[in-house]
Amino acid sequence: MSTHNVWTHKGTFLLAAVGSAVGLGNLWRFPYLTGENGGGAFILIYALTIFAVGIPILIAEIMLGRNSRCSPIMGMRFLTRTHQTSRSWESIGWLGAASAFLILSFYSVIAGWAIHYTGLMFTGALIDVDAAGVGQSFDALLASPGLLTLYHTLFIAASALIVGLGIHKGIEAGLRVLMPSLFVILLVVLSYGAIIGDLGAAASFLFTFNLADLSLEGWLQAMGQSFFTLSLGMGAIMAYGAYMPGEASLTRTAFSIAVVDTAVAMVAGLAIFSLVFGAGLDPGEGPGLMFVTLPLAFAEMPGGALVGGAFFILVLGAAISSSISLIEPVAAFLVERFDMTRPQAVAIMVIASWALGLLTVLSFNLWAEGTLFHTLFGRSPFAFIELLTNIFMPLGGLLIALFAGWALTHAEVMKEMRTNERWFRIWRFLVRFVAPAAVAFVFLRSIPQVEGYLIPAIGAVVIVGAFAAGRTFLADDSQEL
Ligand code: PHE
Repeated sequence: MSTHNVWTHKGTFLLAAVGSAVGLGNLWRFPYLTGENGGGAFILIYALTIFAVGIPILIAEIMLGRNSRCSPIMGMRFLTRTHQTSRSWESIGWLGAASAFLILSFYSVIAGWAIHYTGLMFTGALIDVDAAGVGQSFDALLASPGLLTLYHTLFIAASALIVGLGIHKGIEAGLRVLMPSLFVILLVVLSYGAIIGDLGAAASFLFTFNLADLSLEGWLQAMGQSFFTLSLGMGAIMAYGAYMPGEASLTRTAFSIAVVDTAVAMVAGLAIFSLVFGAGLDPGEGPGLMFVTLPLAFAEMPGGALVGGAFFILVLGAAISSSISLIEPVAAFLVERFDMTRPQAVAIMVIASWALGLLTVLSFNLWAEGTLFHTLFGRSPFAFIELLTNIFMPLGGLLIALFAGWALTHAEVMKEMRTNERWFRIWRFLVRFVAPAAVAFVFLRSIPQVEGYLIPAIGAVVIVGAFAAGRTFLADDSQEL
C-alpha cells in the first residue's frame, strides 16, 4: 500500500516542514492580527499555544505519517486496521484532504496579490503616491477579476509544477534553493527596517505584554493562528512525515519547526512594524497591512522600491513553499489509490482547487455583496470557505491528538519520539487532555451562534468525551504499558 518514498537526507523533513509552516501566515496574517489585537498580549497567548498545544499535535501528526508511511487518507486507513479502531478515524485523512483543497483555493489568490506588488515595487509605480493613492491602487486590483484570475493562475501553476516534478526533483530541490534565499531576504528587510525605520517602537509594540488589551476574540484568534501557522490538522505535515527516515528524532524536529516558525513571525513582525512606525502609520490596518500600509512605508523611504520588491519576492517564495505542502497530501493519495501518475494526480487536484479559487476571486468584486450566496450564507463565498477551513483544521487537529494519544501504543510512541519516559508522559497528557480542550475553544469560536457562556460548558464536555474515547482504547493499550 505504501509508496515507500523517503527524503534524501535526514534534515530534508525539517526543511520541508519549515517550508510548509512559514508562509502567508507568518508574513501577512500574524503581523496584522497582532496589530489589530494590541501587540504583546496577543503574542503571549500565541506563543503559549504553540508550545502547549501546537508542538504536541505536531509530534502526533508526524508520528501518524511516519508510522503509516502513506498519504493521510490511506495512512489512516492502515492505522485504523492495525490498531483495530473504528474506521471513522479515517475521517482525519478525509478532513485533511478537504481542508487542503479549500485552503489552496484562496491561498493562491492572496499569494497572487504579491506578484502584483512585486511588479509595483520594482517599477517604482508607487513612489511619491500618497496614502489615498496607495489604497486606491489596492482597491483597483481587487476590483479586477481578470487580473486576480491571472495572478491566481500563475501562482497555482508554479506550485503544481514543483509538486509534479516529484518529491526529490521538485519539492526537495525547490526548497533547497528557496528556503535559504528567503532567510537572507528576511534579514535584509529586517536590517533595512532597523536602519531606516523605528525598531524601538516595533519592539515595544510587540513585546509589551498587557493582558488587559486582549479581548476573548483576540485570545481565540491567537490560538487559531497558531494552528494555521504550523500547518496543523490537515495532513500536510503527515504527508511529509511519511517520507521521514526512521532514525530522525521526532521530538527535536518538532521543536525546531516551531521555534523557526515563531522566530520568522517575530522577525517579520519587527521588520514590518519598524517600517510602519518609522513612516508614522497605523499598525491596526487589518488584512491591508501588507498591501496598503507597508507599500506606503516603502514608497516613502530611500531605496524602498528595491527592498520592497525583495520583500514581496520573500512573500511569494514563502507562500509557494506552503502551497506545495497543500498539494502533496492529496496528490499522493490519488497516486496511491488510483494508480495515477504524479503529474495526472497533481493536475486533478490543482485544476479543481483553481476552479474553486474563482469563487474567492469574485468575492472581492462582482460577488462582493448582494448575491444569492450572501442571502443564503450571510457572507461572501471567500469568507465561507475560510470559515470552513477554520472549522476543519482544529477539528482535524483534535482528532489527530486523540488518535495518537489514545490509540497508539506506548512502544510505538517511544520508538518515534526517542525520548525519556518523563517527556513521553508530558506529551501524552498534553495530547490526551490539554490539546483537545484547547482546540474545542478555537473550534467553537468559528461558530458564531454559540453564546459566550456555552464555550466553557462545551469545553468541559469535550474533556469528558476525550476520557470516554480513551477508555475504549485503554483495554489494548494497558497490555503494552
Ligand atoms: N502554515 C502556512 C502559513 O503560515 C499555511 C498552511 C496551512 C500551509 C496549512 C499548509 C497547510 O502560511
